[in-house]
Amino acid sequence: MRVALGVSGGIAAYKAAELVRLLQDKGVEVQVVMTRNAREFITPLTFAALSGHKVITEMFGEGQGSGNVESAIEHIALAQSIDAFVVAPATANVLAKMAHGIADDFLTTLGLATKAPLIVAPAMNVNMWEHTATQENLEILRSRGVRVVSPDEGYLACGMTGAGRLASPASIAQAVFETLNIREDLAKEVILVTAGPTEEPLDAVRYLSNRSSGKMGYALAEAARRRGARVLLVSGPTRMEPPTAPVFERIRTAAEMEEAVSRHAVAATVILMAAAVADFRPANAQIGKIKKQDGIPRVELEPTVDILAEISQRRRNGQIVVGFAAETEDLIENAGAKLRAKRLDFLVANDVSKKDAGFDVDTNIVTLLFPDGRKVELKKMSKLEVAGHVLDQIVEIRKKSGVRGQKSEV
Ligand code: CTP
Repeated sequence: MRVALGVSGGIAAYKAAELVRLLQDKGVEVQVVMTRNAREFITPLTFAALSGHKVITEMFGEGQGSGNVESAIEHIALAQSIDAFVVAPATANVLAKMAHGIADDFLTTLGLATKAPLIVAPAMNVNMWEHTATQENLEILRSRGVRVVSPDEGYLACGMTGAGRLASPASIAQAVFETLNIREDLAKEVILVTAGPTEEPLDAVRYLSNRSSGKMGYALAEAARRRGARVLLVSGPTRMEPPTAPVFERIRTAAEMEEAVSRHAVAATVILMAAAVADFRPANAQIGKIKKQDGIPRVELEPTVDILAEISQRRRNGQIVVGFAAETEDLIENAGAKLRAKRLDFLVANDVSKKDAGFDVDTNIVTLLFPDGRKVELKKMSKLEVAGHVLDQIVEIRKKSGVRGQKSEV
């Protein structure tokens, strides 16, 4: 999701910085656009640092008379790429221009050029706010489907008291989320996610592991958090940044993962087992280092516990258990067999032999398999998008069963 945030001139311009943060927290990418007047109140650098994108301030790029046509085209391309355009604060002047189709700077040009939904959060002096001209302009905008986040009443920077204070960043963000259909539909769920590989030691310095990067599990954790779930993430060794999860536990071996999962499963309403848990481990791991002069070591393996099968067997009423299957051949048959054997609510199967799917890439190509034989084949998409589809199924299952997840304290 991508949003353009238009900042026009007013004391409240600094509050737009908080809005950037709130939007980003739900995974929305923010491109800030500022008017010349806004730059009198807050510097573009602040927004560039927060948003991670260069702020657009001029129609034709920086510098007087630079006439940079390339940047003008690039900027207009923004109009096509955004999912919403929010102007906060919106001055009386900007509202008037937008109501009458005037496009004399980048912000107002974007307002005309984009087909994305428009949200405005006015902020101004109370007399300007109450003026018939402003109110009529707002009526024109509303009649075109523009969403107006009305200002609050209170003490105004000009010394007067009344309506005109920019609405809180939280309520502006809420209006944007509603417009973008960003939901908190998992707010009642406690979702336990496992991610990454496990490492099974051979000796003090060596181990058996696999190519899992943890990306799919971390994407699930992130997507679930954005949709309001309480997320418990148990992760094997990965190079990933720890996500913002109330519980984040790093483990190394399959045995440690089993212990952590059993502990957290008590509170979980949903368990998503995305980890690539080792099926076997060296039976006699050495305490010290295996030395070359002792000859070629014979490594005997023993099975680990199938955590998913165990958890599924012990599941509570209403607890949803989802498995993942990495296959290299006969994807549907093999994955279907796992789904039935482990009695899962559904299984996310991916063919790891395909390019752009499976280990250590940002995209995945998966098929969701259900116990009733239903199959949902998803096209190639980012792991975050795959996570979105997996979570949609959780919502569907809840809707069908009428059983709601209970949020419990952990
Ligand atoms: N899994 C698990 N504990 C294990 C092995 C696997 O919980 N010891 C889980 C994985 O997290 C995954 C699912 O089981 O959700 C399927 O893992 P996978 O390795 O594809 O399947 P296996 O059942 O181990 O079968 P195989 O390796 O023979 O394909």
